[in-house]
Amino acid sequence: MSESFAMSVDADGVATISWDLPGRSMNVLTEAGIAELGACVDRALGDAAVKGIVVTSAKADFAGGMDLGMIARMKEAAGPDPAKGVFEGVMAIHGLLRRIERAGMDPKTLKGGKPVAWASPGLSAGIGTEIGLACHRRFVADQPKAKVGLPEILVGIFPGAGGTTRLTRMLGVMAAAPVLLEGRMLDPKAAKAAGLVDEVVAPGELLAAAKAWVLAAKPEEIVKPWDAKGYRFPGGAPYSAGGFMTFVGASAMVHGKTQGVYPAARAMLSAIYEGALVPFDTALRIEARWFTSVMTNPSSGAMIRSLFLSKQALEKGANRPKVEDQKVRRLGVIGAGMMGSGIAYVAAEAAIEVVLIDRDQAAADRGKATVEGLLADAVKRRRRSEAQAAETLARVTATADFAALAGCDLVVEAVFEDPGVKAETTRKAEAVLEKGAIFATNTSTLPITELAKASRDPADFIGIHFFSPVHRMNLVEIIRGRETGDRAVAKALDFVRQIRKTPIVVNDARFFYANRCIIPYINEGVRMVGEGVEPALIENAAKSLGMPLGPLQLVDETSIDLGVRIAKATRAAMGDAYPDGAVDDVVFALADAGRLGRKASAGFYVYDEKGKRQGLWPELRRRWPAAAEQPDVGEVRLRLGMIQALEAVRALEEGVLTDIREGDVGAILGWGFMPWTGGPFGWLDILGAGRAVEICEGLAARHGPRFEPPRLLRDMAATGGSFYGRAAVAA
Ligand SMILES: NC(=O)c1ccc[n+]([C@@H]2O[C@H](COP(=O)([O-])OP(=O)(O)OC[C@H]3O[C@@H](n4cnc5c(N)ncnc54)[C@H](O)[C@@H]3O)[C@@H](O)[C@H]2O)c1
Repeated sequence: MSESFAMSVDADGVATISWDLPGRSMNVLTEAGIAELGACVDRALGDAAVKGIVVTSAKADFAGGMDLGMIARMKEAAGPDPAKGVFEGVMAIHGLLRRIERAGMDPKTLKGGKPVAWASPGLSAGIGTEIGLACHRRFVADQPKAKVGLPEILVGIFPGAGGTTRLTRMLGVMAAAPVLLEGRMLDPKAAKAAGLVDEVVAPGELLAAAKAWVLAAKPEEIVKPWDAKGYRFPGGAPYSAGGFMTFVGASAMVHGKTQGVYPAARAMLSAIYEGALVPFDTALRIEARWFTSVMTNPSSGAMIRSLFLSKQALEKGANRPKVEDQKVRRLGVIGAGMMGSGIAYVAAEAAIEVVLIDRDQAAADRGKATVEGLLADAVKRRRRSEAQAAETLARVTATADFAALAGCDLVVEAVFEDPGVKAETTRKAEAVLEKGAIFATNTSTLPITELAKASRDPADFIGIHFFSPVHRMNLVEIIRGRETGDRAVAKALDFVRQIRKTPIVVNDARFFYANRCIIPYINEGVRMVGEGVEPALIENAAKSLGMPLGPLQLVDETSIDLGVRIAKATRAAMGDAYPDGAVDDVVFALADAGRLGRKASAGFYVYDEKGKRQGLWPELRRRWPAAAEQPDVGEVRLRLGMIQALEAVRALEEGVLTDIREGDVGAILGWGFMPWTGGPFGWLDILGAGRAVEICEGLAARHGPRFEPPRLLRDMAATGGSFYGRAAVAA
């Protein structure tokens, strides 16, 4: 017995059930935990001396959620019928939470139950919150780190321990939607405003307040509305005038947002709709069935793997070389432009001292002013207090004097994308840096191994590639040059961990990993414009795949002139083998017309005077007349999806990627690769290598050799292997 739940009864007869999973900083619900919580609840309900119950945590937080390994174990334990295992496992949890909710009352008279309060000292996510929803009154400590929510949807599942059914029956579909469908974690005040919790109290008074409520609770306060006579679904059940509007609206909203590619969102909506037509206990069974359906859907498995398990493993340093702690104390940032100021901001937020350097004091000051602006925004959004913002800003020293870099243990350079300027910067910085300090470049296209030649010690030189905007994008691509040493890799990883982002470590090759895959995606879209495919068909096909931006919108965002520069450099490097002439015809024509993308308020799209996108540029269809016969949307989708996935496979084959988990996590966080697939390798596994090869051969025959399946994929198809299967064998 792991003894994660303990119970004590005080002199007033209030039982406190306190959760404290041994050996972990955060509570997660395990099989043993379910049994223990059940035993505590039964003991308290059965003991005549106990008047009521407070469910709380002995840790700083209530719970992070469910142990996701538990579902895998439920499936395994059920042998040939994994769905049965999940369904029965989930129904057992429903049974327990329902016992808490009914709290021993007579099912007919609804009398004789004991009040149960939920008291969360800090964060409560997922099943932690679902336990709370089963209790009769919810208390949360009023402290900055406290958050309450049901973020399941973000990893491809939905609240399946009653959270979906209870919250919609408490609040109605519209009010529950932001919590359920967007997975938002709410601070205590917002949680109270949303109706998710009842009381926000000072941390020191949390238990006292919960106990006081338990002792004073009236019998009618512990009967849930859906158990009482005359319950009406808030906003109306489906077959009522109000309900009809709500459910039709919700369905349209969910499909609009998810394009129907996320099984979890659809299943959750079905559980809500079908559940609203039947009594509560039947609704829970329906929720469990839909939850099981999602849990046995390969997309959800792939999302959980990439967005939760792999992401967490990478953040914890799965691929960190075994060298001593390399935490950054003092960071130098050279180049106080868009990227440099963003890097300075996230580092200062992580309590790191920052020296921010530019060519002259005015430019450095502008960079610091950008940091100040970001902090002001955080204050406005109430994510930081004025005092915290001032403290963070004080950590940033803006100067043009390279001598200020003395004492920095890491420097990140974000000057112009020019090898000469970068080399000069490296030399000037290293002249003042102590031996052993690590020098990193934020270049997006220049080979690290080449840039390292300017360094006094290429072992201490590395690429740390941030994405724009730095404060929002969570991926950081760490690039090992040919001579980069382990300590530099560890330094970069420890830095990324300090600033709470997700790292991938890749080897040095043209465009590293993320840009290498994004560029072909953009090019494929642009190429289709040249072929006379309707531009709207291209954009909509991309969105219906679950890509956040269509390729034409993406190139507008990143700018057409950048596309021209990259095309020219690639053509120079590849010579006759350059395959993208047809793409350049279109991109160069836009550049010649002065349509440089969003920043010029003109590109593949038309923008109004405020810079808001208005629609595709009508002239596109005149310059590249629409072909009489348009391709099927499925064909356009496959072209746009496969062109990215194949590039990821080639990156793996060539050793740029060394870990498919990094390939998958990097793709979703870096450029929004269809999250429902769990990443390019996840997608190919869902399709199966055999089917993927067949698709690619067809595409290659119709559109050209860029779709030829790589050797690795062909071999896999021949042997019946899969990327994750293969990885499992290798591990
Ligand atoms: N913009 C992006 O989306 C993006 C994304 C990833 C990486 N990058 C890379 O980050 C780097 C910076 O890009 P940016 O968009 O921030 O550019 P930017 O033009 O906004 O900023 C560059 C800054 O460097 C300063 N600078 C130039 N030469 C200098 C020198 N010798 N000493 C000190 N400061 C100098 C400039 O004054 C300017 O403030 C580039 O290498 C770029 O490729 C950019």
